[in-house]
Amino acid sequence: MRLNVHNTIGEPATLHWHGLHVPALFDGGPHQVIEPGKIWSPEFSIKQMAGTFWYHPHTLHNTGQQVWKGIAGLMLVEDEDSDRLDMPKDYGIDDIPLVLQDRLFNRDGSFRYIEAMHNVMMGMKGDVPLTNGTITPYFKATTNRLRLRLLNGSNARLFNLGFDDDRSFYQIATDGSFLEAPYQTNRVRLGPGERAEIIVELSRNEPVVLRTYPFTGSGGIMGMMRRGMGMMRNMMGDDNRRFDFLQIRPSASLSSSPEMPARLINLPRLDASTAVKTRRFVMEMLMGPAMMMGGGNPFSINGRAMEMNRIDEIIKLGDTEIWEIHNASPLPHPFHIHDIQFQILDRNGEPPHPGERGFKDTVTVDPDETVRVIAKFEDYADPDNPYMYHCHILEHEDNGMMGQFVVKA
Ligand code: C2O
Ligand code: CU
Ligand code: CU
Repeated sequence: MRLNVHNTIGEPATLHWHGLHVPALFDGGPHQVIEPGKIWSPEFSIKQMAGTFWYHPHTLHNTGQQVWKGIAGLMLVEDEDSDRLDMPKDYGIDDIPLVLQDRLFNRDGSFRYIEAMHNVMMGMKGDVPLTNGTITPYFKATTNRLRLRLLNGSNARLFNLGFDDDRSFYQIATDGSFLEAPYQTNRVRLGPGERAEIIVELSRNEPVVLRTYPFTGSGGIMGMMRRGMGMMRNMMGDDNRRFDFLQIRPSASLSSSPEMPARLINLPRLDASTAVKTRRFVMEMLMGPAMMMGGGNPFSINGRAMEMNRIDEIIKLGDTEIWEIHNASPLPHPFHIHDIQFQILDRNGEPPHPGERGFKDTVTVDPDETVRVIAKFEDYADPDNPYMYHCHILEHEDNGMMGQFVVKA
């Protein structure tokens, strides 16, 4: 595909294809700046499995504000498997893309973006849910099954999604591929940048609301809360705000969509023994005096804040690697890697949750947690142009929680 990106926003920007496997020069990261008034025309082939991807600016120190003010959208990739599978795929009828975001507004209706320390530390959060840019939207369903492609496109909030009557649904895809088989559940947790596809069954004349639920359970974030850190309680209170994202209004007669297939695709597990290297990444937040000593950058990976002129990792083209990502901070961070799609090997040594066994490009790592992911770095080598890895809480990314890697032939 070739894209013509015309920058009409009056300030330098970039546009990144989140989750797409493309040459580094066309990745739209912080180095591919489009000056105001200019057009950037990247060109690449699609070499990956069917999935739901998205695009957004990636401007150094300015991504949070530009995304907040509206620049984000979806890209859907289809392949032989998605064509073959008998499932809802009628765009806008029973295959519905949903960009889920939260925003704050000024009295005049303009977006309100605040750069105070609290918004940097916690990430910028809003009090109004927006779905595909719409406030209190509804969808008139005409089929008895709906496929929803969910993107957490927020700057900083984690969403624990379900339906208001707690009905179960099937998760069928992660960020970058289908799951091997549908996974029946009543919740899907998405950190900023993550996607999931779900299929929900509807009954005639019975409206149902896609909404957020509070986080529960004994997992990392709740564990931190119990340890009683004021900041965590604060943050969770905030993340537990209820958002109704979409009311679905099924009509009085519904045409029938395909039955849920028992199996979706073959997804060979990448084997840890095929990895030639393990790299470790430690995400940290510095507060108070420690931050001043760190040169004023509150966020770091492996003790370093993002530096445009420093390449942090050099990877050999064709290698399979394990990345061991540790969160040494009191907040969860969604860790995103450009260029590749990975599989999760384990979380603190435990096998991944059934809903995260497809290919992914972003994984939420809870406080004190270590997540191991595995990926093959193939097709594109470029010693001069780096790809990024970073926390997808955009204010963390903008304030240093990002690093760069190159893939070398
Ligand atoms: Cu969605 Cu580096 O970004
Ligand atoms: Cu990306
Ligand atoms: Cu973060």
